[in-house]
Amino acid sequence: MREPDYVVDEMISAKAIAARVEALAKEIEAAFAGTEKLVVVGLLRGSFVFIADLVREIDLPVEVDFLEASSYGDSMESSREVRILKDLRGEIAGRDVLVVEDIVDTGFTLSHVIHLLRAREPRRLETIALLDKPSRREVEVRASWTGFEIPDEFVVGYGIDFAQRNRNLPFIGKVRFPRG
Ligand code: PRP
Repeated sequence: MREPDYVVDEMISAKAIAARVEALAKEIEAAFAGTEKLVVVGLLRGSFVFIADLVREIDLPVEVDFLEASSYGDSMESSREVRILKDLRGEIAGRDVLVVEDIVDTGFTLSHVIHLLRAREPRRLETIALLDKPSRREVEVRASWTGFEIPDEFVVGYGIDFAQRNRNLPFIGKVRFPRG
């Protein structure tokens, strides 16, 4: 039988993620207590599992919206460009907004999205990332809430892909190349 190109070792279990998501939701509820409406913005595509679990744990009036940003590197330059492929459907001026990201790596995506949305003058703008790889940071940015700080490993699952695969794994796994 042909050996797989790579294997995935469990790094953060589904149970550990669920417990962390529940705790984060309680912190968000407390931070936004009394809000008229919290606009929860998921950054596509990686955040779709996290946002689905998170909003179901937040006991506040919530509106869900999505933004798709794509970042791409230019090997000749140290700077990265971030393009908006799909913008929000709703207005956020004067609103309480929570941006939901699956992972902060170099920080370019989150930093760009924060600047973009701040310019629309929300009442309050906070961010949450399930995973953070601080060792990879190129732009100074930090989410208001972080689920787990992780080392510089290639991770998949719970929404995060490797070449569009493995987004459906219920846990966060570490990719390993047996022959590499
Ligand atoms: C990934 C991830 C974050 C971003 C983090 O998205 O979902 O949005 O990269 O990287 P950065 O901190 O270096 O900017 P990707 O562009 O792979 O798209 P996807 O969410 O559709 O998988």
